[in-house]
Amino acid sequence: MTVLALSGIRGGVGTTSLVAGLGFALQTMGQRVLLLDLCPRDLLRLHCNLPLESVEGWARSERMGEGSWSDALLQVVGELYLLPRGRPETGAPTNDSWAQRLQQLQRRFDWVLLDLPPEVPGVTLAAPDLGEGIARLRVIEADAACHAVLHIEGAGEAPLLINRFDPLSQLQRDLLLLWRERLEGRLVPQVVHRDEAMAGALAWKSPLGYYAGDSLAAQDVRSLATWCMAQWGAQR
Ligand SMILES: Nc1ncnc2c1ncn2[C@@H]1O[C@H](COP(=O)(O)OP(=O)(O)O)[C@@H](O)[C@H]1O
Ligand SMILES: [Mg+2]
Repeated sequence: MTVLALSGIRGGVGTTSLVAGLGFALQTMGQRVLLLDLCPRDLLRLHCNLPLESVEGWARSERMGEGSWSDALLQVVGELYLLPRGRPETGAPTNDSWAQRLQQLQRRFDWVLLDLPPEVPGVTLAAPDLGEGIARLRVIEADAACHAVLHIEGAGEAPLLINRFDPLSQLQRDLLLLWRERLEGRLVPQVVHRDEAMAGALAWKSPLGYYAGDSLAAQDVRSLATWCMAQWGAQR
């Protein structure tokens, strides 16, 4: 089983949408996939046809003593499953030790995709303990804000995945050239294009490939899934 954590360099870069889209793409390649929401916003569920009002999830089960974290597991489609975070009514801290729980999921899934909040240096947002051997992708957008963050904070260790790439934008093309030169080998070779289908998928409450399998962004995400398989290939 491969545990792959996606986090944005900042909010709004499309991390949650990519977790859902990538999970769906891996599932169409015959992989057993779990989407696991570790973001306090609890929005991943909205890509999986859950109602806006839904409050169920692992954190709620746990904090409110309504059962075990794994009771909140839901089938999305085929071999694609979701573990929503849920919204507990109390502010008591959750037990964010996922290392052991991920062990328990070993036999059931080939991939666990984690939706993580963006990391802000110096701000300790009770990061979940994920244990060793986690693969990571950091989502960025080719804009001046992400460029500034990369410059100030450094590129970090994880491969950088460019989302919402717009080849018509001169600035984006220039930044892509600059990053390819400066961040040699650090960029994921496949970019995900800016595509209305990605925004439509969320409005439709579906993963991208389910909503618009022929769209440009869905093709990008399928290529990304192939790259991930080659990079971290899940073994049964
Ligand atoms: N490649 C893309 N093209 C167009 N819209 C996108 C793309 N990726 C994400 N979006 C849209 O951007 C918004 C923010 O995406 P989201 O996945 O919630 O970002 P994050 O999790 O990083 O905060 C959503 O409305 C989503 O549909
Ligand atoms: Mg998000």
